[in-house]
Amino acid sequence: MSQIQIEQGDWTSLQQAAMSIREQVFIQEQHIAAEDEWDAQDAVSIHFIVRDHGEAIATARLLTDNSIGRVAVLQRYRGQGIGRILMQHIIQYAQQEQRALLKLSAQVHAIAFYASLGFAVEGEEYLDCGIPHIDMQMSLQ
Ligand code: COA
Repeated sequence: MSQIQIEQGDWTSLQQAAMSIREQVFIQEQHIAAEDEWDAQDAVSIHFIVRDHGEAIATARLLTDNSIGRVAVLQRYRGQGIGRILMQHIIQYAQQEQRALLKLSAQVHAIAFYASLGFAVEGEEYLDCGIPHIDMQMSLQ
């Protein structure tokens, strides 16, 4: 039986786990260049790590501008509701912080995933790191 826990914290405390997941998902699987993956936002974001029996299996970050980013679930754990649990945790966290809204830049394949959580598409598609993206937003008020 799975035993899911979610940790949140700064880059110093969660860097090791977040880097391992993002390295596997974005750099190895999606072929995003390392220089695009790691940026100055990590140091000022709140990071979230989902653990299953202690193993880090999913991550995301919440920026100071209310953007959620770098949402990643290890491949073998997808389709089991882990991404949904992680996003719902971040939404609840942002509500407790009395943030007015949440936004994100969604890879187009994941629009349905974010829409099912309450995010709505804003504007037109664009390319980021060669991957089609679209902005999505959700009001928390
Ligand atoms: N396309 C369409 N629907 C999707 C989807 C996708 N790529 N991924 C999940 N969903 C749907 C599921 O069917 C599910 O719907 P349901 O609750 O009605 O059954 C819902 O979204 C939640 O799915 P869940 O199992 O919680 O998602 P997940 O744990 O597989 O995580 C991602 C989803 C997108 C985070 C995961 O596929 C991933 O890490 N992908 C690689 C990295 C990536 O592309 N990240 C997004 C960057 S914007």
